[in-house]
Amino acid sequence: MSEKKPFYITTPIYYPSAKLHIGHAYCTTLADAIARFKRLAGYDVFFLTGSDEHGLKIEQKAEAAGIKPIEYTDKIVASFQNLWQKLNISNDDFIRTTQERHIKVVQEVFRRINAKGDIYKGEYKGLYCTPCESYWTEHQLDENGCCPDCHRPVQEVAEEAYFFKMSKYADRVLEYIESHPDFIQPVSRRNEMINFIKQGLEDLCISRTSFDWGIPVPGDPKHVIYVWFDALTNYLTPIGFLDDPEKFQKYWPADLHLVGKEIVRFHSIIWPCILMALDLPLPKKVYGHGWLIVDGDKMSKSKGNVVDPIGLIDEFSADAIRYFLLREINLGQDGNFSRDALISRINSDLANDLGNLLHRTLNMTKKFQDGVALAPAGESEVDKSLKADAMETVKFFHDNMEQMQLSDTIKKVWAFISRTNKYVDETQPWALAKDPAKKQELANTMYNLLESLRIISVLISPFMPTTARRIWAQLGMEPSFEDVQLADIEQWGGYPAGQHIGKAEQLFPRIEVK
Ligand code: MSP
Repeated sequence: MSEKKPFYITTPIYYPSAKLHIGHAYCTTLADAIARFKRLAGYDVFFLTGSDEHGLKIEQKAEAAGIKPIEYTDKIVASFQNLWQKLNISNDDFIRTTQERHIKVVQEVFRRINAKGDIYKGEYKGLYCTPCESYWTEHQLDENGCCPDCHRPVQEVAEEAYFFKMSKYADRVLEYIESHPDFIQPVSRRNEMINFIKQGLEDLCISRTSFDWGIPVPGDPKHVIYVWFDALTNYLTPIGFLDDPEKFQKYWPADLHLVGKEIVRFHSIIWPCILMALDLPLPKKVYGHGWLIVDGDKMSKSKGNVVDPIGLIDEFSADAIRYFLLREINLGQDGNFSRDALISRINSDLANDLGNLLHRTLNMTKKFQDGVALAPAGESEVDKSLKADAMETVKFFHDNMEQMQLSDTIKKVWAFISRTNKYVDETQPWALAKDPAKKQELANTMYNLLESLRIISVLISPFMPTTARRIWAQLGMEPSFEDVQLADIEQWGGYPAGQHIGKAEQLFPRIEVK
């Protein structure tokens, strides 16, 4: 058997500084849909997410709550894991930066770079944004003298610190970005990063002494390692950097770091410098996605517009939320979340277009053919055109999902769903059923509908895994959905003739708007 091609995809590891909101769920859902697609396309996928638990911000939160940092993060991280489970996230590992396996990796990375002569001790005097855990120089601040990323006040810091000789790698990273057009995407982020480096890269302060909550510098434990140095290294830990060379060889370099646009700088400048110092190859792609805004405004606690994903999942189902996020937001751009828009998509696309197609197909198969798919023979022009559209949709799905065009892919799949609904109106099975001479024509029509739904269930599976399985079961399909591959829908006719359909169930109830 040929070896499967590996595909290593990561989300950022989230700060357990508060509960996750629907914006975080967007990033993880996106990564999950890509991971699921890649598995379908035959890749050996390793999908990683996790939590970024060290640093001053977390220490302060724990102090405010009157508990130890680890007690604080244990509780919040459990809520992350619960959310990912409810949202059906298929991650292969969950890394916590407080885990022993990770602490060992970070300290070893520090040791290796130090041994290379790329770390030195000095004094850091400058500015720090605690919410972003980010160092800034005076000239980088915004017009109000605040953090250029989050626009909150920065603090002056003056303390003994270790520095990483990042300036040494600036030219090499710039050269790499310029000669690898696909490395940073979208292109707007790439240009931003090129400009950022061209303004000059300073050495990076990689330790703090004014608080304790972090990984101790090997041999100098009054210093804790800078939280971003610690966090970025997470991508090496679960794939065997220290303990499984074969696994590491297989998955590194990562194929895709999917991150929000404000942290592209850490992933496409600082991280490559660290990797170059370790003599490791750079990740193949860093994709900076846009933000989810709520009713036109950025989500924030102070604005009181933070949308809790758990409440939404309980109310509307994980698949409906996943569908909405992936359908409504064009990757790379900001997208708007609104409850009204969500309800309207559920009613029109899920309950109406998809739900009706399944419902009428199963109903008619039951009523006209005792619930059995009869073997097709011959084809009309309208049958031919349906099949051609199905095959064209499968090809579009493959090509566009490879390019991470999720929203366009969903729109195309829904165009095929509408087209299949139109096929019902064109062929009028209820009229065929009244005419004994049209028995074969009816059999062909019902078969084509069931086969279209089989294909549709596979096409929607990266976006709506539960719904895909439910349709599969209602079609009476025997093979386990886990074994399905994209190749199974690349040819028309995989629905077994003679098969008995399963039990019909409503997929999405219509939401009544008060
Ligand atoms: N801990 C760092 C990441 C370290 S990765 C080595 C961090 N954590 S975070 O919790 O603040 O943010 C995690 C991700 O959530 C970021 O990619 C960020 O862009 C994303 N989002 C936070 N709010 C968001 C929206 N409103 N919309 C979309 N993504 C959002 O940064």
